[in-house]
Amino acid sequence: MSQTAPIPHGLPMERDAGPFNPPRRITRLREARPVSPMVFPDGHQGWLVTGYDAVRQLMADTRFSSRQDIGVLHVPYEIPGMPVATEPSPQMPGVFIAMDPPDHGRLRKRLTGAFTVKRMRMLEEHINDIVERQLDHLARLAPPIDLVAEFALPVPSLVICELLGVPYADRENFQVNSAKFLVRDQPLDEKMAALGALTGYLAELVTRKRAEPGEDILSDLARHEDLTIEELTGVAFLLLLAGHETTANMLALGTFALLENPEQLAELRADPELLPDAVEELLRYLSIADIFYRYATEDIELGGETIGKGSTVVVSLLAANHDPQRFDNPDTLDIHRKARGHLSFGHGIHQCLGQQLARIEMRAGFGGLLRRFPTLKLAIPASEVKLRTDMNIYGVHELPVTWTETAR
Ligand code: HEM
Repeated sequence: MSQTAPIPHGLPMERDAGPFNPPRRITRLREARPVSPMVFPDGHQGWLVTGYDAVRQLMADTRFSSRQDIGVLHVPYEIPGMPVATEPSPQMPGVFIAMDPPDHGRLRKRLTGAFTVKRMRMLEEHINDIVERQLDHLARLAPPIDLVAEFALPVPSLVICELLGVPYADRENFQVNSAKFLVRDQPLDEKMAALGALTGYLAELVTRKRAEPGEDILSDLARHEDLTIEELTGVAFLLLLAGHETTANMLALGTFALLENPEQLAELRADPELLPDAVEELLRYLSIADIFYRYATEDIELGGETIGKGSTVVVSLLAANHDPQRFDNPDTLDIHRKARGHLSFGHGIHQCLGQQLARIEMRAGFGGLLRRFPTLKLAIPASEVKLRTDMNIYGVHELPVTWTETAR
């Protein structure tokens, strides 16, 4: 393994190789040393993992902990909702994405039934209806409009609210507050205020559901008396946050990527059968949930390096998904590619619980948008689209689009 110097000052985030490709420094590092030492802004040394094989191996290995409250986790910026600086952050009850076995499994298994492929298929028609209604709304507007505000954000928000039994009318609270967690450099006190507002709201909601359960996922959970209100609140927080920001950014950034690849877009319009593979490829290509953290609970061999016990490890899913050792011409969007095997939903025990739901929403969302807006195009030059390089989930802040005709 060639010895490169540890990369200083945290992670490069600037998209200097175009809006859809990993930062150049990350690509160079993956080529030179896919498991690289990295120095955090506070001087602490950890590791950055960018190669596909190493990332996959790491995510399958539970000796790499997902907990945020052990050791001293040195992260260059905070994880959504986690008050991290150079101190370990407290464990938030219920937030099982940041737990290890057996706690993780105890909570996750309560939810797997609600998110099976079969359950999601049953919801498909209903999700299609939600998408169509949002497209009707879009068609009534006078373009140019912002696709994020009018379509990409409302669709997954409406869907997750309905599944969880969260009144959509309360979206102001959770959309604004969850967006605040995802700003990387948000002052800690503002983050904590947003966290307090959101968890306060959700605690009241799950308390009501425990008293009077309805027909939704949070009510089903609330029926389990062994789960505390704090745990229910944490689960609700995780599902709500994970359930709308991710898919919203896939829809908006995915539309941008398709508009920038007009030949692929034309093929997809002509043959909607290509949609499932196109969605998989967009997931790979865009890898909007890029950076994740793990913590080595013992000395572990990875990609020819020894990760010392106690090290913080940063994973780049974007770098892994653009690894030429795994995908040919990785920096090219190719809707004919068999992109399954990408790591955009993670891998191992924490692999995304909502992936089937996200796939259904994206097929309905992209399919409907392309069908009903055959002349859809950007309303500003591509270089002026505001990229979310300042956020923990990548995407676009706004996507101004226009059209000249609509269809049914
Ligand atoms: C976990 C990505 C949509 C719920 C994850 C992980 C990734 C991811 C990479 C693994 C995190 C880790 O290993 O630390 C995405 C992407 C989405 C998406 C790219 C959209 C395109 C959703 C939706 C839900 C959801 C719609 C709705 C419920 C979750 C949950 C976890 C998770 C609960 C934690 C699972 C666990 O720790 O066992 N997601 N996600 N995600 N996702 Fe998603």
